[in-house]
Amino acid sequence: MDFFNRKGTELYAEDCAVADLAKTYGTPLFVYSRATIERHWHAFDQAAGERPHLVCYAVKANSNLAVLNVLARLGSGFDIVSQGELARVIAAGGDPAKVVFSGVGKKSAEIAYALQQGIYCFNVESEAELDRIQQVAQQLNVIAPISLRVNPDVDAGTHPYISTGLKENKFGVSISDAHRIYAKAESYPHIAVKGIDCHIGSQLTEINPFLDALERILLLVDNLAQQGIELSHIDVGGGLGVCYQDEQPPHPNEYAKAIADKLADRDITLIYEPGRAIMANAGILVTEVEFLKTNQDRHFAIVDGAMNDLIRPSLYQAWQNIIPVVERPELAKQCYDIVGPVCETGDFLGKNRELAINAGDLLAVRSSGAYGFTMSSNYNSRPRAAEIMVDGEQVYVVRERETIESLWQGESLLP
Ligand code: LLP
Repeated sequence: MDFFNRKGTELYAEDCAVADLAKTYGTPLFVYSRATIERHWHAFDQAAGERPHLVCYAVKANSNLAVLNVLARLGSGFDIVSQGELARVIAAGGDPAKVVFSGVGKKSAEIAYALQQGIYCFNVESEAELDRIQQVAQQLNVIAPISLRVNPDVDAGTHPYISTGLKENKFGVSISDAHRIYAKAESYPHIAVKGIDCHIGSQLTEINPFLDALERILLLVDNLAQQGIELSHIDVGGGLGVCYQDEQPPHPNEYAKAIADKLADRDITLIYEPGRAIMANAGILVTEVEFLKTNQDRHFAIVDGAMNDLIRPSLYQAWQNIIPVVERPELAKQCYDIVGPVCETGDFLGKNRELAINAGDLLAVRSSGAYGFTMSSNYNSRPRAAEIMVDGEQVYVVRERETIESLWQGESLLP
């Protein structure tokens, strides 16, 4: 559930009329709802019940400092994949001791930075990475806490680009290699083996793939215990889906309960890495209709938001709901492709949408809080959109709209 609701014909973000926000801050505009972010985070936190646990929000979904700060104030942990994300977490007041560091290509400098900041754990994705962490930790004369990301080879049944748990994917190590790599990790003097980790994909709408993965992981945990390697945490990754259209993903409660049942009375800390489930429906992208245009029998609404602002529709053929900010009951609906000004046929936010709109109207692309701004670019030399966060009646600009001059910041002419 989120806090973007209609009052009469007007869309509200919490207690703020979205049309007023667009007027004040311009478009395209990302609008986030603090109450929604908090509600979603609490759903995960509470669902874990009494078991020791850590909700490590996946920063890649939305890394705005204000978003991270709202979560840090709740006591959240963070899942990061780069030095930049860790620096953001720290700048936002997050606790490095609650950070897990995922990703297949950690550079030595990033590892050193994370060690200096005292993160909770590295999610190690390969044997070569383990060797590198040992080396860097030795140079710094510290102990690096690690967990091994295991690829359980289960089909998450999601889009191939966001499916990560199959053996043909680049992520993690196979269960069969895991025994040997754990043994090696145990033998390294600057490595402390802490846990095990897996992440099988994103936007999962069924519980079963999570449970299949967990079952395989638990078997491995038991085998490792027989080998004398005791793990203190299981990180089940992120990936819980959200409703974009008519999907019916399990509620975080249901998901966490199913996981808790599988863990039964094991004495082990549970870590989750949700990104989308916390942020997607906590944000909208507001865009203005510049022109309506008809080519032969196709109708286009040309809007001022584009693939550079929100690439999910172009990249994954992702469907996100597009609704008028102010409804026009007096107008007849027509079927539109909602397209941006970028010079690519693939530049669309939605296709075949029944809408009653005029030029100058505002549209809201729902579920844009996750993988929206973080995947945006300056393609076609378009300054990136502003981001604001509402909190009841309060509005905060949490990222200013980029200026034209900022587009060439750091560039230079030849002498
Ligand atoms: N943990 C790891 C190691 C991950 O790779 C990811 C996402 C997450 C956690 C968070 O997953 P979530 O709870 O958000 O599903 N850009 C794509 C999604 C890519 C997800 C990549 N990894 C999209 O817009 O659909």
